[in-house]
Amino acid sequence: MELRCAAHFFVLFLSFTLLLASTRADPHPLQDFCVADFGATGVVVNGFPCKPASNVTSDDFFFAGLSNEGNTSNIFGSSVTPANVLSFAGLNTLGVSMNRVDVAPGGVNPPHSHPRATELIILLKGQLLVGFVSTNNQFFSKVLNPGEMFVVPKGLIHFQYNVGKKKALAITTFDSQLPGVVIASTTLFGSTPTIPDDVLAKAFQVDQKVVTAIKSKFAN
Ligand SMILES: *[C@@H]1O[C@H](CO)[C@@H](O)[C@H](O)[C@H]1NC(C)=O
Ligand SMILES: *[C@@H]1O[C@H](CO)[C@@H](O)[C@H](O)[C@H]1NC(C)=O
Repeated sequence: MELRCAAHFFVLFLSFTLLLASTRADPHPLQDFCVADFGATGVVVNGFPCKPASNVTSDDFFFAGLSNEGNTSNIFGSSVTPANVLSFAGLNTLGVSMNRVDVAPGGVNPPHSHPRATELIILLKGQLLVGFVSTNNQFFSKVLNPGEMFVVPKGLIHFQYNVGKKKALAITTFDSQLPGVVIASTTLFGSTPTIPDDVLAKAFQVDQKVVTAIKSKFAN
């Protein structure tokens, strides 16, 4: 009897620990910093191996990549410039990152989600309609003016749409060094190999011709 009770307690404890682990953002660092060494081969860790601390300089903690306006001449009229661990190696293990988002008038950063991070958006210039849909299908949105913020809970589908007359500029921040991005349109209609037409036709309740037409826009 006692043994069974202990086993139950253990299962409860394990579930609780797993729950905590799954609701946390990136794990805490175990040292001051761990500047990513992308050249290290044969070492696999959760993140990237660190370059030797003796090789680290101030430049490893500096990134100028967000100072330039992104090119919005594309089908969406928007551009996302990432400052995540892949472009800014000093972020490795620190659990944070940022993006610069430029959106032309009428442009959209199309519906997408970040599987590994909650997102804070601060608008610096212009006007953006920002919104996300919760898991019970409720749409939450706001039109942001400069200085105003919006938060998108982890993993939920969201977008930014320029409803102003001028270019919009926003900075987004994440509680992950590499939030990841799943863009709804390109994921479903532009994957490699492609998702079978029947699946998409059934899922969206449209004719296969519609699926073929949409796929042609996102083909690799
Ligand atoms: C560290 O610095 C030394 C000396 O400059 C260099 O030979 C070595 O390749 C560097 N290692 C890494 C991982 O950057
Ligand atoms: C922006 O991108 C378009 C399309 O790729 C390209 O034609 C144009 O030269 C780019 N503009 C700048 C300033 O880089």
